[in-house]
Amino acid sequence: MAIRKSKKTTPAVETPVAVEAVTETASETPVASEPVEAHVESAASETPVAESTGPKTLSIDIGGSGVKLMVLDENGTPLTERARQDTPQPAKPQPIVDVIVALANSQTVGFDRISVGFPGVVHDGVVYTAPNLDPDWRGYDLAGTLSQVLGKPARVANDADVQGFGAIEGKGLELVLTLGTGLGSALFIDGRLVPNLELAHHPFRKGCTYEEQLGRAALDKAGKKKWNKRVRKAIELLAAIINHRALYIGGGNAKKLEGELPTNVRTVSNEAGILGGIALWRY
Ligand code: BGC
Repeated sequence: MAIRKSKKTTPAVETPVAVEAVTETASETPVASEPVEAHVESAASETPVAESTGPKTLSIDIGGSGVKLMVLDENGTPLTERARQDTPQPAKPQPIVDVIVALANSQTVGFDRISVGFPGVVHDGVVYTAPNLDPDWRGYDLAGTLSQVLGKPARVANDADVQGFGAIEGKGLELVLTLGTGLGSALFIDGRLVPNLELAHHPFRKGCTYEEQLGRAALDKAGKKKWNKRVRKAIELLAAIINHRALYIGGGNAKKLEGELPTNVRTVSNEAGILGGIALWRY
């Protein structure tokens, strides 16, 4: 059987969810006045904007190689096209916040609240780890900072957790893996998140962690064929441990998967990483 692509384009979960997230400090502060120049690859101007009366969410996906965002309506439907800028290097907090502000200012549709998927452990909007960005992130109040500079309430969760919300069906035990710069993982029970599951740095095989074997550096080093074999091994191992009903594989490198996958495994569009952002406001 060939790899199945999920047809889903909007998050499916309707159930209220518990997310490790959040700081909601709406502020009156206007949008920062000195944004860095935005290199918006795909601007919003072509997209017809649907009539939408509910709150609009600026949904942001911070990755090791790119920062992406778009505005979603109250149902999670995109109102703008995805805007992207390379992640600044070194990937320290301030330059990344500057990129977010620049991209946010480039959006043609306003927003009332902010959701962020962050590539590390996040508690109550504060970053604990950022293995593929920079050590300076430790203890950084990302939700508080974005609330202040963009003047809207912000919620922040782990990037794989957010991606998962955009991928799952909300039934039974569902596992999500993201194959990108790092290895993301997320677990859901009947649509409720078990936040901050970190498989990435857990031992996998040959003295290496999952991320060391399956992350972008490993793909570049080992090549597609070996890397594909490893992904399959990880799928088998995790199925034996977790016994999930379904596994969704997203992230920028999911498209590099070749050949058959077990019937309960499907790849999902990387856009789920942004579309899932709406779920952070559903509880
Ligand atoms: C981090 C995870 C993150 C993943 C994907 C890993 O290195 O520990 O928290 O979800 O990379 O970005």
